[in-house]
Amino acid sequence: MRFLALLACTLLLGCPADEPSIPDAGVVSGFTREQLLDPKSCQECHPDHYQEWSGSMHAYAAEDPVWLAMNRRGQRETNGELGDFCVTCHAPIALREGLTTDGLNLAELPAYSKGVTCAFCHFVDEVTGSHNAQLNLSSDLRMRGAYDNPAPNKAHASMYSPLHDKERIESADLCGSCHDIVTQKQVHLERTFLEWKSSLFAHDVEGERQTCGDCHMKGRTGTAADAPGVPLRRVHDHRMVGVDTALTDFPEKQDQLRRIQRELNTTALSILCVRDEEGTVLLGATLENMAAGHSWPTGATQDRRAWVEIIAYDEADNVLFASGVVEEGQALTSIVDPQLWRLGDQGYDEDGHAVHLFWEIAEYESLLLPPPNHAHEGPNAGKVGAHLQHEYRFSSAELPARVTLRLRLRAIGLDVLDDLIASGDLAPEFRGAVPTFEMGATQIEWRRADMFECVPVGHPPPVP
Ligand code: HEC
Ligand code: HEC
Ligand code: HEC
Ligand code: HEC
Ligand code: HEC
Repeated sequence: MRFLALLACTLLLGCPADEPSIPDAGVVSGFTREQLLDPKSCQECHPDHYQEWSGSMHAYAAEDPVWLAMNRRGQRETNGELGDFCVTCHAPIALREGLTTDGLNLAELPAYSKGVTCAFCHFVDEVTGSHNAQLNLSSDLRMRGAYDNPAPNKAHASMYSPLHDKERIESADLCGSCHDIVTQKQVHLERTFLEWKSSLFAHDVEGERQTCGDCHMKGRTGTAADAPGVPLRRVHDHRMVGVDTALTDFPEKQDQLRRIQRELNTTALSILCVRDEEGTVLLGATLENMAAGHSWPTGATQDRRAWVEIIAYDEADNVLFASGVVEEGQALTSIVDPQLWRLGDQGYDEDGHAVHLFWEIAEYESLLLPPPNHAHEGPNAGKVGAHLQHEYRFSSAELPARVTLRLRLRAIGLDVLDDLIASGDLAPEFRGAVPTFEMGATQIEWRRADMFECVPVGHPPPVP
């Protein structure tokens, strides 16, 4: 067959010289490789998957004006040494198809080559490393998924893959390979995969194992394709809600925002204890990671701004003490607040100056809510819960009448945007588009009149 096809192309059609050879292509797949690379070709038969993905940060990865601005600035400030580093994960098809080397020409490239696309994930046949997208893409044009008996269809061949089956521990390797970043200065800057590996959820036993897909690709009963002969099965959410939002007009934007808020509401909870020690009031605050299978926040923690707002009032509702009070539109880093409790990473350059851009960071300090674990050894040995504690102090003759606390989050700091605006890489209009989220279950109020030292009542503060 191959010989005949080769003969035919030589004699009749002319053979495309630099086309890579694609084993089985003509046999197993109705659609061409070009068609299969384009998410739009999937829409006809997989309309729900397409719609969910189209509003995801995977689809947005190379549209994000902040990403474009950072890459542009990075290329300039490193004289191009940044190279393909940022496109490796944000526009992996464009890079692998040879359409870009540095991401500076993305505006001219076809849409199918940008973002983390359907074909990119579904062509992966091997994970070759635990960071920086070390993933091998098969050229056999088979769509890999968790079904071992997929219904045939006219567009593509299908096959089972443990990397695409959230019931299998190795499925975390697929996500993890892109969700950990080691920079060109060898700094392990984003560590979601590493954090997950240190958690309870990476134990490969029934009842503990929770892969990335278990939490981020919830299943529902439905049909995986609008096509003949397709049975009812478990199908999986492709919205992959996190904390980042589209800053420009983008499909499903309101739906994503609503879902982020819903996830964040149950991600962490807080405990507050109020005590008087001879004229000093002690506010003991605890945050506990309830639901994240890795640290919280995770990933781009050098850009995230997560902080506790706490306010103590007297009888007449005058403010006795406050920390973490940030107005709408105000950058967290602009407030002077010695007792501020802030979660995230702070990067430093070789000379110890605080910096925040990927290519500048030589080392970092990190304060994140750790994930649950009950490891038998290591730093988390014996721990089941995952919490951090912080103490505020102020002098006052009597206990406050009430104290309110909440954990707040901006996916990207306004100071980060201000810096990109000042360097001329980002248009100022995006600054107003960053939402500030409240972490629902951390919003609590302590009242003196209730006569309890800690709230929520009945929830003892964890042992430090
Ligand atoms: C002509 C219709 C059609 C088109 C177009 C189509 N698919 Fe499919 N696809 C199907 C059918 C039918 C199934 C099998 C569903 C089942 O068995 O429940 C399927 C299954 C899959 C699976 C699961 C494979 C497995 O074994 O678990 C993946 C992944 C997939 N398709 C991805 C894609 C992607 C990506 C595109 C676009 C490039 C695409 N499909 C385009 C019809 C189509
Ligand atoms: C036990 C459930 C669970 C597991 C397992 C899990 N996550 Fe999460 N993840 C969460 C929750 C809860 C959040 C916070 C809510 C949100 O951001 O929507 C979150 C947030 C995130 C975010 C958003 C960034 C941020 O700062 O919160 C990313 C990215 C992410 N997870 C990726 C992963 C990857 C990759 C894996 C596997 C290596 C994984 N998650 C495993 C529950 C989980
Ligand atoms: C970030 C990687 C990723 C991207 C991007 C992605 N998928 Fe998937 N998809 C998966 C994984 C993982 C599964 C398997 C989940 C499981 O069963 O555990 C899956 C499952 C599927 C299935 C099987 C049915 C189901 O819901 O389990 C279809 C069909 C599918 N994807 C189509 C698409 C289409 C179409 C797109 C683009 C519009 C797309 N996928 C984008 C990772 C991805
Ligand atoms: C090609 C690399 C790649 C793979 C593979 C990948 N991701 Fe992502 N993912 C990204 C990038 C890049 C973004 C960020 C896009 C942005 O915010 O601009 C992202 C964003 C996300 C977010 C939203 C983060 C936020 O803060 O809003 C979640 C959740 C997520 N991915 C989960 C997963 C899961 C689960 C898998 C495996 C099924 C996976 N990813 C596989 C590259 C990848
Ligand atoms: C190894 C894959 C990988 C590489 C390399 C990578 N990113 Fe990302 N990027 C991600 C993932 C995954 C997320 C989502 C992180 C999360 O939400 O936890 C992300 C999110 C982002 C975001 C949105 C989150 C935020 O900060 O608000 C920006 C901006 C960004 N990346 C810029 C860059 C730039 C600039 C580079 C190159 C210097 C780069 N990325 C290199 C995987 C990568």
